[in-house]
Amino acid sequence: MTMKIAVLPGDGIGTEIVAEAVRVLNVLDLPFEMEEAKVGGAAYEAHGHPLPESTLNLAKASDAILFGAVGDWKYDTLERSLRPEQAILGLRKHLGLFANFRPAICYEQLVGASSLKPELIAGLDILIIRELTGDIYFGQPRGRRIATDGHFPGAEEAFDTMRYSRPEIERIAHVAFQAARKRSKRVTSVDKANVLETFQFWKDVVTEVHKEYPDVALDHMYVDNAAMQLVKAPKKFDVLFTGNMFGDILSDEAAMLTGSIGMLPSASLNAKGQGLYEPSHGSAPDIAGKGVANPLATILSAAMMLRYSLQQPEAADRIESAVRAVLAEGYRTPDIWSEGTTRVGTREMGDAVVAAVTQGIKGIT
Ligand code: NAD
Ligand code: IPM
Ligand code: MN
Repeated sequence: MTMKIAVLPGDGIGTEIVAEAVRVLNVLDLPFEMEEAKVGGAAYEAHGHPLPESTLNLAKASDAILFGAVGDWKYDTLERSLRPEQAILGLRKHLGLFANFRPAICYEQLVGASSLKPELIAGLDILIIRELTGDIYFGQPRGRRIATDGHFPGAEEAFDTMRYSRPEIERIAHVAFQAARKRSKRVTSVDKANVLETFQFWKDVVTEVHKEYPDVALDHMYVDNAAMQLVKAPKKFDVLFTGNMFGDILSDEAAMLTGSIGMLPSASLNAKGQGLYEPSHGSAPDIAGKGVANPLATILSAAMMLRYSLQQPEAADRIESAVRAVLAEGYRTPDIWSEGTTRVGTREMGDAVVAAVTQGIKGIT
């Protein structure tokens, strides 16, 4: 049966890294039907909107979405609804992609690429589970107004709303506990219950849902402490489970434990198992167009797509083994380069993975 993949490269390095992931998918020789569409700033330029109806409809009609990144400084002065970032937020909202998986794995060969001491990160394997369609990101009301109270009544002010409903917390808590069952059965729920009502509620609901998972150990940690523990003793975490905003921040922090943000893939799933797959990083305007971006986070996201949405676990394994193989062979984009390894660009890294996947297939048949 044909697997329909919506390919949305987006802006900046998005186009460069998605091209490599597509090449890797193509050598698998599986019945994919890929259709590409514009998203983010590229879509704004072409259609006047970062998430055109046609792109959204393509995403909805696909079995999975492979997404690059969106955004550029030049759009920062546009009204918010037209800014590129609204495209990814809109896709998450319209497709109900509430469960975000961001695995932070430190590959053996990259132990030296991290800014942390090797012994702290060797063997690191954390799964960050981030709620993706609630919290202060989507809470209403939000906006600007003249303050009628607070420290400066009469002054201009801006406000957002942090909120979570019980069902929103329950469904993501089930995802976290079920994911933990497939790993070392430990969940750390990260909150700010000591200050925020929303996160006291989060903690209460997570504790209730946990009663259905007596085989899984649960502990709670405040987000400021979690940020500190992630660099002090990251291997103490197994499933790090949190809300939308804390998850955004902590996943970038965790990315550096793996050597580079260019190594951190992600899967964003809805209740139907449909998913959007993207690297955790952005469009990196500072290096866009130079051919130096690390495509591995996107290639590894494509592997997650094969595993979670397309039921092709062997193909996913093949890609992940190929990534390990190219790292073992010494290929490094500048973000993970160290003395004694081979510095390559985006395309050459893609070539190396394509070659390793091809060899892997030959090795099997
Ligand atoms: P960023 O993740 O784009 O870049 C942060 C730093 O990491 C930069 O120095 C960049 O060069 C580096 N980097 C990122 N990906 C890399 C890769 N694959 N290889 C090598 N180096 C890499 O974050 P930012 O600079 O804060 O944001 C840039 C733009 O991206 C903004 O418009 C932001 O809103 C957007 N953004 C989009 C997404 C998304 O599409 N999901 C995610 C994060 C940021
Ligand atoms: C991410 C990004 C997005 C987020 C932005 C671009 C909306 O930082 O996917 O981590 O904050 O979720
Ligand atoms: Mn982010």
